[in-house]
Amino acid sequence: AVVQRLDYTAPAFWIETVELTFDLDPAKTRVLNKMQVRRNPDVPAQPLRLDGEELNLARVLVNGNGTSFKMDGGQLVLENLPESPEPFALEIFTTCAPVKNTQLSGLYVSQDTFFTQCEAQGFRRITYFLDRPDVMASYSVLLRADKAQYPVLLSNGNLVESGELPEGRHFARWHDPHKKPSYLFALVAGKLVAREQKITSRAGKEHLLQVWVRPGDLEKTEHAMRSLMHAVAWDEARFGLSLDLERFMIVATSDFNMGAMENKGLNIFNTKYVLANQATATDTDFANIESVVGHEYFHNWTGNRITCRDWFQLSLKEGLTVFRDQEFSMDMAGSASARAVKRIEDVRVLRTVQFPEDAGPMAHPVRPDSYVEINNFYTVTIYEKGAEVVRMQHNLVGQDGFARGMKLYFERFDGQAVTCDDFVQAMADANPASPLAQHLDAFKRWYSQAGTPTVHASGVFDAAAQTYTLTLRQSCPATPGQGDKQPFVIPVTLGLLDAQGRALPLQLDGADLGTEHTLVLHEAEQAWTFTGIASQPTPSLLRGLSAPVLLDYPFTEAELLTQLAHDSDAFNRWEAAQRLTLRIATNAIAATAGAATGAEQNTANLLPESVVHALQSILEHPQLDAAFKELVLTLPSESYIAEQLDSVDPQRIHTVREAMRRQLAQALQPQWQAAYEANAHTGAYRPEPVAAGRRALAGLALNMLCLAVQGDGVWAGKAYQRVKDAGNMTDKANALQALIHSSSPLAANALDYFYRQMRHEPLVLDKWFALQAAAPDVQGSALPAVKALLKHPDFVLKNPNRARSLVFTYCNANPGGFHRQDAAGYVFWADQVLALDAINPQVAARLARALDRWKKLAAPYREAAREAIARVAAKTDLSNDVREVVARALGE
Ligand code: ARG
Ligand code: ZN
Repeated sequence: AVVQRLDYTAPAFWIETVELTFDLDPAKTRVLNKMQVRRNPDVPAQPLRLDGEELNLARVLVNGNGTSFKMDGGQLVLENLPESPEPFALEIFTTCAPVKNTQLSGLYVSQDTFFTQCEAQGFRRITYFLDRPDVMASYSVLLRADKAQYPVLLSNGNLVESGELPEGRHFARWHDPHKKPSYLFALVAGKLVAREQKITSRAGKEHLLQVWVRPGDLEKTEHAMRSLMHAVAWDEARFGLSLDLERFMIVATSDFNMGAMENKGLNIFNTKYVLANQATATDTDFANIESVVGHEYFHNWTGNRITCRDWFQLSLKEGLTVFRDQEFSMDMAGSASARAVKRIEDVRVLRTVQFPEDAGPMAHPVRPDSYVEINNFYTVTIYEKGAEVVRMQHNLVGQDGFARGMKLYFERFDGQAVTCDDFVQAMADANPASPLAQHLDAFKRWYSQAGTPTVHASGVFDAAAQTYTLTLRQSCPATPGQGDKQPFVIPVTLGLLDAQGRALPLQLDGADLGTEHTLVLHEAEQAWTFTGIASQPTPSLLRGLSAPVLLDYPFTEAELLTQLAHDSDAFNRWEAAQRLTLRIATNAIAATAGAATGAEQNTANLLPESVVHALQSILEHPQLDAAFKELVLTLPSESYIAEQLDSVDPQRIHTVREAMRRQLAQALQPQWQAAYEANAHTGAYRPEPVAAGRRALAGLALNMLCLAVQGDGVWAGKAYQRVKDAGNMTDKANALQALIHSSSPLAANALDYFYRQMRHEPLVLDKWFALQAAAPDVQGSALPAVKALLKHPDFVLKNPNRARSLVFTYCNANPGGFHRQDAAGYVFWADQVLALDAINPQVAARLARALDRWKKLAAPYREAAREAIARVAAKTDLSNDVREVVARALGE
């Protein structure tokens, strides 16, 4: 059934308090749920309909007496309830089977430990409830279990009492002092140990921080704890938001559908975002841990204290909290250069994952209008584009204005369940003179209209008048259900460069604006005339990607080379390199279009001398940070190139990009060698941006060197040695990747060595599977290798991390291996979607999205992909999750 945003109505009843008693048993857990319920006087009298899923109902009592009830489509319907507005007691007794819960939604067991995941609608798999975010209640939880098997019993809030019970059992009673929606409920029970830290807040309050993991993993929790302490301090310093609990816990589990979950006071995390030491985790892992720990902690205010009225408002908490975690990471990174690097990385995700989503069958507004399965809408659009929409507000009202807006938001809505509109309104009301307030209604279209707009720019220099007139026009393609779009409010941050790349002073309407300014495009087309411009300038547009749009401007090669060499905006410097190489790639692909697929094409020296030389200057630059160099010297990804084309031949894209990579490897061999030697050894391991950047550049250099001298073997030999000797996982994994991606004969031995050394580290084994799943497709070898790995004793489809490392990596991150002429990659995809759907629909639906963009594929891929999707869709007992994705892909 389709749920529509406009069908929202307030609940007919409120649940004020909940007392839950759990007798935890993997096969049969007993749940006693005692609620105080009262009618909502603002809504016409009607039956109480409680959500439930896969529960065994044993008893329902109203004010202590039996009552009549009926079942309707999973809901428990109570018709004969007291008519008075006073609260009444409702008691429901159910059982469930956590050990059989392979969906990992609700109460489940992982490695003999109980965990919960309730967002979005998992609480109804624990007990009957009004499982919707606008029903906020006070929770008391009594946990009872066998003491030897489940020595640790955790739930939200404060531990009130604990003690012994007969027959080797024990109990713990928890009370959460804050009202919350059911999706924030959590419990954990098992054999766990904690790293603990006491902290004192600015306000002088004491708090206990804990990171709970399995015994043996404690030494991998230092970074997570440090990240948590930083997050607490940052939210106080930047937003004046303090921890509102005596105790804040993080618990790690290796079976988890997503990254992590912000349950009040008891965050539950995928081990991938908690456990790290230098031997097992890469710099990227360390950075991700900091960002996800921050993200979940920041939800305590943006999500928990103020939550969503309904799930269409999901981006209210997710977009805002991603914006906050991005800012946190940037503030932690420190230098301006490190901030720019983080921004580039975030933009890369937006462009390579969110822009395609926004152009495909699953396109939806940041505030969707309808859904079949809400789990399918935890998307990059809700999260990353949502964060961009918050970032634009930040730009339009300024950093202080944004802080004022946040303050007003909390004054108005603390403790409530609200909407995206409420947030922007607070931002605008706190900044009445801002362009956000001036164009508020038009700005809100970012929430209601899907699709990535394009800004078409053109400039006219008038030598006689010494003016430069910049015209900006916007357009946005149709998306499913939305034909015509109205203009968006688009902040365009820009500078103008002279021929030497120097920043020109900007004058507009007689005002001096310095060297950087933000224009606000709010109509279909607008023009601005800058005065006092002596020569043809190079426009540096959309700096820092000031809006989530595509930019269409006919840059000359000279203009891009000027920006790459001189732009004071690091982001646009990187962008210039991307544009230069992207254009060469798409031209080369177009030049061979129409040729028989697989036909040999001349791909030697696609990059002109000018571009190679410009890239060389960056690589050799004495001042630029290594991290930035690594980004500039990395070519646009195959999926990003594919997005620029109307008809996609994945093999041709792969061939062209590989040829460009080989050319860069060979043409800059001495520079790669110098870069490697300068950065290969970073001393005692510290996961901070400067050293991480150096390791990243050394990794790229080693990749390039192995590629440049394939037959020779000197560099392959060094890489092999590094797989064995490297003192940190970043260097080790990069060296292994260099061998695999240059198809070195040493790759197989290196993989064996790596496996034998790391076989007892699950998160490292995930990397081992992923590296192989992404291996180059030498004579069709990729798919057979993946199929062989499916049978490996360490492969477990039921474990989402493992499934993602092998199956998802092959389908999403190995286009050359996946898009086969014989369609075998698509057949494999369909098989795996169906196999996963029987275990875990949420994970299956994610995999189902790998073929979202099938309509763009050229022959013979397109028809083969359609057939594979149709085969999945033809299965009669599909989950709602997968059905929604494949139906939309087929355009139903
Ligand atoms: N709220 C969590 C986070 O962003 C993610 C929950 C995802 N839930 C889901 N059913 N997909 O931190
Ligand atoms: Zn979140």
